[in-house]
Amino acid sequence: MDKVTVRSPATLSNLGSGFDVFGLALREPYDVVEAKRIPERGVIIEGIEGWGADSITSDPAKNSAGAAAQAVLERAGSEHGVAIRIKKGIRPCSGIGSSGSSAAGGACAANMVLDKPLRSEELVLCAAKAEQVTSGSFHADNVGPAVLGGFTVIRAYEPFEIHRMDPPANLGVVVTMPDLMVNTREARKVLPSKVDLKDMIFEVGNASSLVLGMCRGDVELVGRSMADRVIEPARAKLNPHLKEAEAAAMDAGAAGAFLGGSGPCVIAVYDRKRIEGEGIAEAVRKVYEEHGLKSDNWVTTWGEGCRRV
Ligand code: HSE
Repeated sequence: MDKVTVRSPATLSNLGSGFDVFGLALREPYDVVEAKRIPERGVIIEGIEGWGADSITSDPAKNSAGAAAQAVLERAGSEHGVAIRIKKGIRPCSGIGSSGSSAAGGACAANMVLDKPLRSEELVLCAAKAEQVTSGSFHADNVGPAVLGGFTVIRAYEPFEIHRMDPPANLGVVVTMPDLMVNTREARKVLPSKVDLKDMIFEVGNASSLVLGMCRGDVELVGRSMADRVIEPARAKLNPHLKEAEAAAMDAGAAGAFLGGSGPCVIAVYDRKRIEGEGIAEAVRKVYEEHGLKSDNWVTTWGEGCRRV
């Protein structure tokens, strides 16, 4: 294959207490990344279009898709290069894995034009390298689900071990993106370096229960376990009206609500067998509107990882 186009999903990270560990692929929105095999070594970014394209560098070493594709070529020892085109369906600085989606798309598309493709876990690592370039830290909780789909758990970073499973079919997700920008690099600087023992107990309890809920198909338990006393409180100042938005989602029938990644997206989960997500979306939208902020929203569910289109 000389040229491929992949669709790479937005992803939720943290899911409350699973900081840098839990991830969930969404059905939408998504980025589209094309890779074309070229005889010269290295990566060229041929074009970037779509949401927020103007703010994204076309320097292949600093661009998420470019850096991920480069990591794939190097790991595979490729003698050829790739030319990349990116179409952004996910706004940068959103908290739903915009850079991670492009990174996963770059890694997967570049991999598909290789003579000897890498394994998907290797692609996650290559995409995580790109996350390091753009956010300053090596975290794979967005690129993991963007590559593998479903719900992912990173058991350890050294050595790297990731697991994935299909979440319950009735897991509904409402994403609300207020008209605010939060930069992950900055949002990691505000985090505490130490955690109180009581908070650790709370986080472990909730993280474990969330996984149980996923395994049992219990959306209410999943939602109830999307609680966090360490990361979200530290980021509250970067995400105005967060608590109010989460409370509005819960009042409208959500099973749980949390801050998507480093923000500003607010995420609510609900049981699709029990209610429609539109009421939750409307309730959260109203909160931001009352504070003079516009917002975009998606009423969706979990989805698959990077796929050829
Ligand atoms: N786990 C990361 C964070 C995800 O919260 O900083 C960033 O998108």
